[in-house]
Amino acid sequence: MLVSGKEVLRDALEKKYAVPAFNFTNMENLQAIIDGAEEMNSPVIIQTTQGAIRYAGFEYLADLGKGAAQRAKVPIALHLDHGTDLEYHLKAIRLGWTSLMIDASKCDFETNVNIVRQVVEIAHVLDISVEAELGVIAGKEDDIESDVAIYTEVQDAVKFYNETNCDSLAIAVGTAHGVYKGEVKIDFDRIREIKQEINIPLVLHGSSGVPEYMIGKAVESGINKVNFDTELKLANLKAMTKFIEENPNVYDVRKIFKPCRNAMKEVVIKKIKACKSDNKS
Ligand code: G3H
Ligand code: ZN
Repeated sequence: MLVSGKEVLRDALEKKYAVPAFNFTNMENLQAIIDGAEEMNSPVIIQTTQGAIRYAGFEYLADLGKGAAQRAKVPIALHLDHGTDLEYHLKAIRLGWTSLMIDASKCDFETNVNIVRQVVEIAHVLDISVEAELGVIAGKEDDIESDVAIYTEVQDAVKFYNETNCDSLAIAVGTAHGVYKGEVKIDFDRIREIKQEINIPLVLHGSSGVPEYMIGKAVESGINKVNFDTELKLANLKAMTKFIEENPNVYDVRKIFKPCRNAMKEVVIKKIKACKSDNKS
């Protein structure tokens, strides 16, 4: 069923697990997410970047996401990931997204606060939850890119939360968007310290390539939403390449996409276990 972002994150906060959030752009990767979640009896967040919306079309993604969620046996929230432009938030609300992220993390503190406040004021009237981001996460995801990471300061997070009243907060603690170039290091103490000061769902971005035990440790430290994108894309690509190499004469896309969907579902199941969200639906 399609549920609000608030509902899934409230439960995760209370029961100390994380809701895995997976990006989708097409039917096959959406089916892989939903099948994996149903098999594991896990709530899940399906999310779209502005880039995905530009690629597939707003109405089309709305139909796909809402239709799949309404038919699913587990709670599913439809989330706008890294929304930077107010027009996307407004249209997402109108088309039935149940959760929004406003990412003004590239702006200075005061500007970030003001932009987040504007979205919170609109979204809260309609009981839609808002995720904001403070600090800078390195790497690249669609329109969002940074060569450097700026970790979130504990006292800044407190001030930011008090001034914006956001529902959840993405923090920079060492992860990076996209494929990792070096060793993954997460500042678990920082997660714990922020959580101690503001007891709201904290969000981990750039989680592909992070070993599962580290995801588990981040969840124990206070993370309640974990975003995964690149690993699904890589699993899809690997399965597709393998199939085409082994079956050069097959041109039926259904045959090509089937192993891709299975490979993405396996990743989904692995991440659900790491987030400890299995059997929480
Ligand atoms: O917002 C989405 C995530 O942060 C995805 O990051 O591609 O590194 O998994 P990832
Ligand atoms: Zn992200």
